[in-house]
This record gives sequence, structure tokens and C-alpha cells, in this order.
Amino acid sequence: MWHCTSCKSTCGADVPLPLETAEPYKRADLTPLHNPFPTTNRLNSQSLADQWFHTPSVKHTITVPATVVLGAQWGDEGKGKAIDQLAPQSTWAVRFQGGNNAGHTIVVGDTTLKLHQIPSGVTSRNCNLVLGDGMVIDPWVLDEELSRWEDLTGEKPEGERLFISERASVILPFHKYYDSADKVVGTTGRGIGPAYRDRIERVGIRFTDIEEVLSDSSIIEDTVLRMNKQLQTVGYDKEIQPSELSSQLQWILDRFGSAIKPTGLMVDLALRNGETVLLEGAQGALLDIDQGTYPFVTSSVVGRANATHGAGIHPGHITECFGITKAYCTRVGNGPFPSELSLEEGPGQHMAQVGHEFGTTTGRPRRTGWLDIIALKEAHRISGYSGLVVTKLDVLGGLDEIKICIGYELDGNPISHFPTRASDVERCIAVYETHPGFPALADEDWIDMAERSRKDGTGYDAMPGEVKNIVDRIEALSGIPVVSVGVGPDRRASIAKVGGPFDIVWDEATF
Ligand code: IMP
Repeated sequence: MWHCTSCKSTCGADVPLPLETAEPYKRADLTPLHNPFPTTNRLNSQSLADQWFHTPSVKHTITVPATVVLGAQWGDEGKGKAIDQLAPQSTWAVRFQGGNNAGHTIVVGDTTLKLHQIPSGVTSRNCNLVLGDGMVIDPWVLDEELSRWEDLTGEKPEGERLFISERASVILPFHKYYDSADKVVGTTGRGIGPAYRDRIERVGIRFTDIEEVLSDSSIIEDTVLRMNKQLQTVGYDKEIQPSELSSQLQWILDRFGSAIKPTGLMVDLALRNGETVLLEGAQGALLDIDQGTYPFVTSSVVGRANATHGAGIHPGHITECFGITKAYCTRVGNGPFPSELSLEEGPGQHMAQVGHEFGTTTGRPRRTGWLDIIALKEAHRISGYSGLVVTKLDVLGGLDEIKICIGYELDGNPISHFPTRASDVERCIAVYETHPGFPALADEDWIDMAERSRKDGTGYDAMPGEVKNIVDRIEALSGIPVVSVGVGPDRRASIAKVGGPFDIVWDEATF
């Protein structure tokens, strides 16, 4: 047994090591990790499975804290910041769906970090990172992200505290070529849909399959034949060669072999050992393949129900599920958006400019609009948020009035739900309630307000009346307790509900 001295959440716990021979992780330049798997890159899956099999399940009386963070709109809600704040409380951060169509921006001091696949929990060095079963992963993009992280911090987490699920699917260059033919949805062009399509057709390559595929030239040839036929159908004029696919797969194995693990077993074992797990959503509720504005959606289930499934653990582990919403709305790509405003003038232009509303992944300008309570309630129906984090409230500063969409009119009839057909949502006319605006403040003033709220323990009372009024209205209209309010990009620029789950002392970022 290794007595953990570094972990805050399970302080003083004796942590069983996966193998008798395993040593606690130690490196001169890093804080020791609370990590029962630091040496698993040298173990085969069977020894890990043995350890997992012999560890008793958690009894009903023991809390099993898995927290989920989800986008409650059309993505880009500011999930990265909430995750960055919660990560120091967690020993594992798991991405469970999507791929590098996601873009998380984390700002610490002067450093802005844009992540696409690495879980945002990376900023907390005690946090193990998992790219989970439900993901589709572009290994070349991951390589770039990891290089940027190493340049910034000197750390190489892959195989040490960053693990790739054996069950996750590989995004190959083929998938990107194929995705570039999309003219309808306005995808990010990152190959996400085609990679999931291959998975559903049961012809995709998962990370666990790479070795097998490489050892059988007939699989390589069949795969290339199929890919080339598909590329022809979308007018792509080049052909992929078998040698090209083999060398791509070999590179993945050489680069990431030590990080590819049965991560579901690892996360489950961590929970049974009393550790805390953060499940990081990507995209947003209205982009869900089943529940969103189909076909203008992404290719995965983004809600709470998939958070555990895509991480390889069961839903009973979830204790908290936070929905993240901006104080207004944005959407990238095509599809209906009932509360949309013009980007050319007025409040829509203000939101785009003040909120820097450009896609993290593609750089495309985001469409902007007023906060839509109907859409938010749809998201809550699917994922059942235990708390709502309202982000970018500061962006609304300087507007004369602030509107909130509280219903729609469809073909002359008032409705209070989101129609199923995208063409019906397209015809919905938003109905608003209007509130007085509040003055614009400088970033430093918002940070001061947030710091004051923490120092004095006043929470939302630190906000001026008109600002607090918006928060109160969002809570009353959505029926979801607002647990934290973002008032700037800096990690300090958040005001937490007193006594709520975000009313915590954050650890300093590790870089
Ligand atoms: P895909 O996920 O690349 O297939 O794109 C499908 C739709 O989802 C497009 O409208 C994208 O712009 C949108 N989308 C995908 N990922 C994100 C995201 O992380 N934030 C916002 N929109 C996204």
C-alpha cells in the first residue's frame, strides 16, 4: 500500500497499487501524483484487469463522486473554465465523446491555452487524464497539442498520467478528406462524422485494433479499397495507398503505444478506491445527435447519459451534473437558432465583438443571440443538471437592455417547447422578456468584484443589482440552481453561490 500524501480529495487514504512491484510516481520536477497507474504503461492489460477484478465494488453507503460538466447550448459555453476550477478536486478527468471538433480555452494569467482533445483537467497536475471509449481521436492533432503543452510546462503526460482508451476510434486523414465534402451541416471538417460513421458500420479502427490491422495486409488492402470508393463518391481525386495507411497506423503505435489502455477499468477502479472523477463534455446539448436540431448536429450523444457510458463506467457513479450556459447564446455552423441576432449591428454585434465569438477550432465567426430558456430547458430535460454555471455575463455590460427568450411563436401559435423538426424550429419566432442593462466594466473590475465576493463571503450579493437580477431571472425561468457566474475569461473572474459546489478554494494552476 502507498500512503498518498499529495491528494487533497482523499487525503490520508491508503491507495492500493495495481501491482506489488509498482512504485509511487516520483519525478524531481513534478509534484507526486495521486495515481495508482503511473507504471501501467509497462504492464499489460491482463495485470490491470486482474487488479480491477479483485477490487471490491463500492457499497451503497459510500459516496462515489463522479461529476459531469456539460454544454447546455450549442457548444462553446465555457466548459473549460469550469473544468479547470473543478479539476484540482479530482484525480481523474475524462473526455467521453467527440474529438477535436471541441475547443476548450483556458486562461491563466497571461497564458491562453486552447485544447481540442486533451481533457481540460490537464492544468491540475494531480489529475490523471483519459481520452475515453466514446471518443474519436485524431492522433496527429493530439501530438501537436501535447507538444504545445510540453513547450509550456516541460511535462510529457502521455503514458504517465494521460491515457487513450483502447476502445476509442482513430480519426485518419481519410476521414478528414471525406468530411471536407460536407456542404449542409457546416461541420468543423475534422473528420468526426466519418469516423463515427465507420464505427457504426463496424469497419472503423479502434486504438486497440491497430496492431492486428498492421499484422494482416489483407485488412489494410480491404480498408484502403473501401476508403477510396467512398472518396470517389464525394469527388476526391486522390487515392490512398496501402503503404500510406500502414505507415500512418505504425506512427500512431510508435507515438502513443504506451498510453493506450483499458481506461474504463482504470476509471472504475479509481472510483472504487474512493477517488474523484470529472467527466468532461464536449459540444452542447442542442448539438446532440439524438436530441439536438438534427441534422444540424454533431455525431455523438453529448448528454449526461453518455458521460459514464463513454467513459466505461456505470451511470450510478454520478453525483453532480453541471450544465454550462452563456448569459446569451452562440452557434457555429448551420441550423436553426430562434433567438439569433444580426452580427452586423446592435446587441448581436456587441456580443460577437466583446465576447470574442470566434470558433476555437475553426476560427469561424460564431452566430450570436439572446439567451434561450426554451433551449436551456430542453437541455435540462435530457441531462438533469444539478447546477447551472452561467458564463460571460460581463459581455452583456454596456447594452441598454437585456432580453431573455421565454417562449416561441410557431405559425401564429405560442409554444413553450423545442419542436423536433429543424424546419419547424427555423420558423419559430422568439418571445422575450426585457430587463434593464448594466454598465460595461473593465476585466480588472470584474475580477475585483469576484475576489471581493470570495473574501467577504458575499457571493452573488457582490454584484450590482441589475447584474444579480439577470442571474436570479435565469435561475427562476430555467428552474436550475445557478451555482457559479462567469464575469471574465480569467479563472479568478467567477462568482460562486455561497455554500454551493463552486464555493471552493482553487489550487494555483500548475503553470
Ligand atoms: P462536427 O461535429 O464537426 O461534425 O460538426 C457538426 C456541427 O456541430 C457543426 O455545426 C459544428 O459547427 C458544430 N460543432 C461541433 N463541435 C462543436 C463545438 O465544440 N462547439 C460548437 N460547435 C460545434
